[in-house]
Amino acid sequence: MSSLKGTGLPTVLGLIDRCARRLRRAGVFFGHGTDNARDDSAALVLHALGLPQTGDPAVYSRRVGPRGVRSVDELIRRRIEERIPAVYLTGETWFAGLAFHVDPRALIPRSPIAELIERQFAPWIDPSRVGRILDVGTGSGCIAIACAKALPRARVDAVDISGEALEVAAINVRRHRVGKRVRLLRSDHFSALRGERYDIIVANPPYVGRREMSGLPPEYRHEPPLALAAGRDGLDSVRVILREAGSHLRPGGLLIVEVGNTEAAVRRAFKRLPFLWLEFERGGGGVFLLTADQVGG
Ligand SMILES: C[S@@+](CC[C@H](N)C(=O)[O-])C[C@H]1O[C@@H](n2cnc3c(N)ncnc32)[C@H](O)[C@@H]1O
Repeated sequence: MSSLKGTGLPTVLGLIDRCARRLRRAGVFFGHGTDNARDDSAALVLHALGLPQTGDPAVYSRRVGPRGVRSVDELIRRRIEERIPAVYLTGETWFAGLAFHVDPRALIPRSPIAELIERQFAPWIDPSRVGRILDVGTGSGCIAIACAKALPRARVDAVDISGEALEVAAINVRRHRVGKRVRLLRSDHFSALRGERYDIIVANPPYVGRREMSGLPPEYRHEPPLALAAGRDGLDSVRVILREAGSHLRPGGLLIVEVGNTEAAVRRAFKRLPFLWLEFERGGGGVFLLTADQVGG
């Protein structure tokens, strides 16, 4: 592998460009919080140098000494050789305008649902009537916490079957000081929520089928399999949510679920449900919305 050593004193910007070229040449996969080599490289270089990810132009013209170059070199080497997603190397990512701690105990936040939360779920519900929200499969807690921040009067229950994911969520709940309004619960889907009803149930459940799982780029192997794999056809979790969400929604409530590229399989499997497939300005898709009436609430 080419090294960054012995090339004089580069600027931060020069290092970012050079590392981006290395990432491209190595053919690493982007899609875990960044979608291109330059953003991936910038996150890694700034992190390795202990510089803020603020976009301050003065940062980019700084010269980097040999120790800094070695730190960058080491981080880029791990990104390329071990195929660790950049976000797991930096330990931080952004979701709905908020910074989240992330480590391999939880999926890297990247759901397009962020955009909907930032809009307070407009135009689908009047935000002033949202008292209770449920996030099924909360992982790092990103959706639950972003909901609590966007809707300051709402109380949010966040469930996950993984104790490890809930540990990461707890770190983020503390970080964003929403412990009074976000309740973390270990639960297999709705099992710990008997009798509870919500205005919005939101979920980004696992939805990768068996065959697709085995063909995923190596970066995905660093994420918890529980967060991705959902049986033979990828619908195991979605089936449970569609069967049980109705009895946990208040009248007029909404069910919003990301199923990604399993959208076609969901449409085929539930032909009679009148899914509304949402569109996003910042990209991404495969998110459906159903009302309480439509899911039998
Ligand atoms: C795709 S990840 C989504 C994480 C987070 N909501 C996000 O958007 O980044 C799916 C999450 O569902 C959790 N999960 C998987 N099976 C579950 C089940 N039976 N009940 C509750 N949560 C489950 C996983 O542990 C994982 O945290």
